[in-house]
Amino acid sequence: MRSMKVNLDKKSLSSYEIRIGYKIIDRVALIIAKNHKAGHYVMITDNSVGSIYAKQMMDSLKDVGLNINLIEFPAGESSKNINTVLDIVGKLLELGADRSTMLIALGGGVVGDMVGFIASIYMRGIPYIQIPTTLIGQVDSSIGGKTAIDLPYGKNLLGTFYQPRAVFADLIFLETLPEKEFNNGMAEIIKYGIIDDEKMFSLLEDNMDAVKSRDSALLLKLVENCCRIKKSIVEIDEKEQGLRRLLNFGHTLGHAIEAASKYTISHGEGVALGMIAAARISEKKKYLDTAQFKRIEEIILKAGLPGKIPCDFSADDIISRLAMDKKKKDDIIHFVLLKKIGMPFVNGGIDDKLISDVIEEMK
Ligand SMILES: NC(=O)c1ccc[n+]([C@@H]2O[C@H](COP(=O)([O-])OP(=O)(O)OC[C@H]3O[C@@H](n4cnc5c(N)ncnc54)[C@H](O)[C@@H]3O)[C@@H](O)[C@H]2O)c1
Repeated sequence: MRSMKVNLDKKSLSSYEIRIGYKIIDRVALIIAKNHKAGHYVMITDNSVGSIYAKQMMDSLKDVGLNINLIEFPAGESSKNINTVLDIVGKLLELGADRSTMLIALGGGVVGDMVGFIASIYMRGIPYIQIPTTLIGQVDSSIGGKTAIDLPYGKNLLGTFYQPRAVFADLIFLETLPEKEFNNGMAEIIKYGIIDDEKMFSLLEDNMDAVKSRDSALLLKLVENCCRIKKSIVEIDEKEQGLRRLLNFGHTLGHAIEAASKYTISHGEGVALGMIAAARISEKKKYLDTAQFKRIEEIILKAGLPGKIPCDFSADDIISRLAMDKKKKDDIIHFVLLKKIGMPFVNGGIDDKLISDVIEEMK
């Protein structure tokens, strides 16, 4: 099992370990019992993850003597809302959860974001642990303490920064992950390569088939690399005042495309399209050379992610949704652009005409 520490404010309890390995569930239970003692635990998961893993996880946590209950809610982004939060909070109250209770989020980004959010507000804050089961969860959403739920106005509009006490990423979970969900995670891994690690980008170029067949040694290397990149950025900029914005590479347009499709385009697909668009804008503005743009486009396609925006999407609709993005500042939407692979920067604003041209080109 590999381990790394996210070093945050030394005065608070917010530093924590990320542990990564293959088939580590039993050891995870022992570590929780030893290092994360609580009077009462509640594991929260969605019904899809629950149907595969809840029994095994609950058994291993009970075997080490934990007093633990389980709450499940319906899987999917459509559950990431205030009604589900209130429903779960009601169940926590019925189970007698109080400030001595530790929540355990078992699932993908939806479970993690929502459990983190509940933990941050339930009785003014209780601790929680992340056990991510999707590739997105393992390389991205479980680390860094961003919690959120969606509102009818848009995604992730209600949330907090609230760090977990620990993150445990077991690669065994990835074996049951549907292809589409795996590809969503691939988009984030490619993003880390583009913004921070040209070596990892090349490794992906050379080994995409093995990665796609879920070779556990390669995945271990990739997940560990991505966690290291994300943790180093979060350590410097926990609350997204500057450097952490680089993690939004491809996400600004990606979220707008996702929303314009009424979420028929998944997060990873949106990010893939957003990354190609951001790279193309960088190329058109002469920051990035054409050969590097082509490498970015090619790797995204090789990963099984889309390179074309559906024709029935209007550029105006996508651009109007950019204005809702909460990452805008002083009315300027900050795009992350590239000078080269491994060298991103935040651009002060791109005019709508250029964005619109690139969207039209990508249809
Ligand atoms: N907090 C952050 O920093 C951050 C970062 C990125 C994304 N996110 C959020 O994460 C969410 C997306 O996360 P996601 O892609 O993990 O989605 P998800 O949690 O909805 O999981 C995707 C689907 O896969 C199923 N699933 C999960 N693990 C499985 C497994 N091991 N085997 C079989 N099925 C499994 C789930 O039941 C669900 O149906 C979005 O809401 C996004 O906003 C948050």
